[in-house]
Formats: sequence, C-alpha cells, structure tokens
Amino acid sequence: MSNKEQTLSIIKPDAVERNLDNEIKEMFRNKGFEIVNEKKIQIEKSEAEKFYKVHETKPFYNDLCTYLSSGPIIVMILEKEDAILANRELMGSTNPKDAKEGTIREKYGISIDKNSVHGSDSVENAKIEIDFFFKD
Ligand code: CMP
Repeated sequence: MSNKEQTLSIIKPDAVERNLDNEIKEMFRNKGFEIVNEKKIQIEKSEAEKFYKVHETKPFYNDLCTYLSSGPIIVMILEKEDAILANRELMGSTNPKDAKEGTIREKYGISIDKNSVHGSDSVENAKIEIDFFFKD
C-alpha cells in the first residue's frame, strides 16, 4: 500500500556556509525525494528556541539554538514513500562519527552540533515542523 509522506529537512548553517546545499539536494533527489517547497532563510534565536522546544531541558539546548540562528539555513519539504524514515536513513546518525558510509552526515557533518542537516523524527513532528516554517 502506498504511504506517501512529507517530512521537514533543514540544511544547517555549517553546510550552507560551505556551499554544500546543491550536493545535499542532489543526494535527496537521487534517493527519490521530491523537494516540494524550499526557502533560504535566517531565523532569530527566539524562533530556534521554539523550533527545538522538545530539547529545552537538554544541556546542549542553548548552544543548539545559537547555532541554528547563526547563519542562513535552507528549509525544505521533502516528499516520498515513507519519507520520514527514508530521510533519517539518508541523513545517518546524529553524531557524524557514528554515521554510516554514504549518508549525508558521514560525508559532510563536522561534529554532533555541526551535523549539516536536520530531519523530522516522526509523522507527528513532521506536521508540526512543516507548519512551523511553511504555514502562512
Ligand atoms: P538535530 O537532528 O537537528 O536535533 C537536535 C540537535 O541537537 C541534533 O541534530 C544535534 O545537532 C544537536 N545535539 C548537540 N548535542 C547533542 C547530543 N548530545 N545529543 C543529541 N543531539 C545533540
């Protein structure tokens, strides 16, 4: 049975700064993702705090929000069969050190903070995160 899903992807400041956005988009397209909407933006720290609210009790929360708002990012809606899981597989582990060969974070990630991409982790969060950036 078909299970087309949408997920939110962010190309983070470290990757945008290194002009890796086209290569990363190509990796998504090569895996069959359609980029149905995208925009390049820079967000305020207060917006990053809202976006990452699930992590607010974590010790890395403040640095994470400072980082996501430190430079331009590209936010995208990706669509494909089982897009949420497929995107998580293509990104690789959160820590690039642990990411499997051929994944985005293995290829481009610098550290657990500068790990080049974000992707929604569940159907519920995908809806919330897509609305966060694309609901007008
Ligand atoms: P992301 O998928 O965007 O979700 C939250 C981010 O927090 C994560 O990627 C990492 O870049 C960052 N982060 C920093 N430290 C940690 C940690 N110890 N565990 C998980 N995520 C972390």
